[in-house]
Amino acid sequence: MPTPLRLGIAGLGTVGAGVVKIVGRHAALLERRAGRPIVISAVSARSRTKNRDVDLSAFAWEDDPVALARRGDVDVLVEVMGGSDGPARAATEAAIAAGKDVVTANKALLALHGQALAEAAEAKGHVIRFEAAVAGGIPVVKALTEGLAGNEIRRVVGVMNGTCNYILTRMESAGLPYAEVFEEALQLGYLEADPNLDVGGIDAGHKLSLLAAIAFGTRVAFDAVELEGIGNILIDDIRHAADMGFRIKLLGVAQMTGRGLEQRMSPCLVPADSPLGQLQGGTNMVVLEGDAVGQIVLRGAGAGQGPTASAVMADVIEIARGTRISTFGQPAATLAHATPAKASAAAPYYLRMALADKPGALAKVATVLGEEGISIDRMRQYGHADVSAPVLIVTHKCTRTAVDHAFARLPATGVVLGGPVALRIENV
Ligand SMILES: NC(=O)c1ccc[n+]([C@@H]2O[C@H](COP(=O)([O-])OP(=O)(O)OC[C@H]3O[C@@H](n4cnc5c(N)ncnc54)[C@H](OP(=O)(O)O)[C@@H]3O)[C@@H](O)[C@H]2O)c1
Repeated sequence: MPTPLRLGIAGLGTVGAGVVKIVGRHAALLERRAGRPIVISAVSARSRTKNRDVDLSAFAWEDDPVALARRGDVDVLVEVMGGSDGPARAATEAAIAAGKDVVTANKALLALHGQALAEAAEAKGHVIRFEAAVAGGIPVVKALTEGLAGNEIRRVVGVMNGTCNYILTRMESAGLPYAEVFEEALQLGYLEADPNLDVGGIDAGHKLSLLAAIAFGTRVAFDAVELEGIGNILIDDIRHAADMGFRIKLLGVAQMTGRGLEQRMSPCLVPADSPLGQLQGGTNMVVLEGDAVGQIVLRGAGAGQGPTASAVMADVIEIARGTRISTFGQPAATLAHATPAKASAAAPYYLRMALADKPGALAKVATVLGEEGISIDRMRQYGHADVSAPVLIVTHKCTRTAVDHAFARLPATGVVLGGPVALRIENV
């Protein structure tokens, strides 16, 4: 009889309860695939009495997740509580110190402490796996770590926060302003307790920093991710972008450039007919580009009980099979300190501003742009009811620094009455 792999599950919310369900429902299938039974020894959550729609009677209960992590009958801690510090960090550290493997869905924990935790685990010959932490049910960590391990990764691009994608696509389909759709998302329970984690790009930035570490063999550098949320996107931007053949997405981009590692999570325009442009609602998509494989596109549910528990179980089965993969795809001690790229690579930009409705106004703006080395590809002026006229400009490739310099000079022209706003157009 092969030795069972014994789990301790810390957290019995959406994800934890989902893991309990899969272990119960698919016991025979999991055993066949893993070559040994996978069982739950003990669980932990705050409330012992809460109804969780799962039968927990066969498992030991621990009020304290650290005690759970240290139990002699637990081989793997499944950390699905959340939070970058507090009990999640304490239980993970306790599990590593007690010589156990860890499976976690916690991007915040790894984005902030991944290097130290990975080094501590590897020093003891143990692993931390985190498939569920990035893009929920999409096996993107495995795709990068295993499927594309023979490639030099050129670029990682993705929509990794379903709530933001829901808000942006709903604004477009219903023609509603941001504030109204934000409120809807809040009522539907789509937003984190601190909504800025979603709409400020922080949650997606955590995920991007983890993928960048694997893709480029660098230490996780969340603090170097350029972050910009979706709160300033107007329904007019969405409409104007659509008129010009684009959609607006909260897009993560990581690439290694001659100027260092570029990591951005910001609203960008993408071609409306591209796979990312077509992505609707709460779905996630990650595009990976390798030198040998070219481009691959992964699409699926980025959150939810089933998809996230599916990803947790993939890691559990990997450990049960005896496969030992370093947290970030290579020993943590060998990860390089990446120099952050100070400025992003040149790209076309979408510029929106309201100009005074008088002769020569546009010429003044064009002069400033030209003097900063920004050339205009396309321009559109919209009908207007008052003294100002909305103007949209699509530039040829230029740097964000040039755009910022030009914007700093625009007030002195005396003709810019609203905006200006710049959104990068990403080639995907
Ligand atoms: N939900 C998703 O779709 C999703 C997708 C990808 C990744 N994740 C990640 O998965 C993790 C869990 O998310 P979730 O949505 O399942 O969260 P959740 O529904 O809020 O569940 C959190 C669980 O942790 C327990 N917990 C919190 N503090 C605790 C403490 N001090 N001691 C013991 N237990 C404690 C809670 O106990 P009580 O139930 O008793 O309050 C609850 O069962 C997070 O890191 C999240 O970012 C979630």
